[in-house]
Amino acid sequence: MFITLEGPDGSGKSTLAKGLCAALQARGFSVVLTREPGEGEFGASIRSILLHGGDMSQKAELFLFLADRAEHVESFVKPALEAGKIVICDRYADSTVVYQGYARGLHLDLLRELNTFATTGLVPDLTLLLDLPPEVGISRVPEKNRLDSASADFHIAVRNGFLAEAKLEPGRFAVLDAMRSAEDVLAGALEVVDARLRMAGRV
Ligand code: TYD
Repeated sequence: MFITLEGPDGSGKSTLAKGLCAALQARGFSVVLTREPGEGEFGASIRSILLHGGDMSQKAELFLFLADRAEHVESFVKPALEAGKIVICDRYADSTVVYQGYARGLHLDLLRELNTFATTGLVPDLTLLLDLPPEVGISRVPEKNRLDSASADFHIAVRNGFLAEAKLEPGRFAVLDAMRSAEDVLAGALEVVDARLRMAGRV
């Protein structure tokens, strides 16, 4: 089962990812936790260019995210799924549609097509979207890298973009209120994951 976590910076994705991973492992599932961009040696090199590489064109940035994703899916995500593991991935293709598309203005359909190409069509079984007002997310994260330094309008477009995508695919997305405590967000996420595991006949 392939689960992705999406949401704006400061929405608590990484905390949820760790909590979810621990809770599922405690129940005997084999779980791998991963993230984009930046898994493995190749991913780490790309992440370093993305975060600290100075100014770059939107197209160059897009292709770095896609290169990271293509390699990540091929060498990491697919083998883990084929081995029957639950893969929890902190950010995936929806981040590209939202950040490079809704927020930076690149064409949404083109981005969807490039995502399909990069992932060979691997779509998550479940996407947990952590939703919260942009100003709350921004205030939770001290600006730490090139990608965090964006205007308020950008952060609003990111939130609205994620919510729009969730509306387009209600069967895949579950929207979680990220204003709640980390414990409550984890409990909400586990309920959704449990329902999916039951549907998949894994519990
Ligand atoms: P990161 O430090 O991993 O932030 P976070 O903890 O919020 O995930 O930085 C990743 C940044 O890259 C984040 O601002 C979102 C952005 N991003 C894109 O713009 N496009 C993408 O396809 C992905 C995966 C991330």
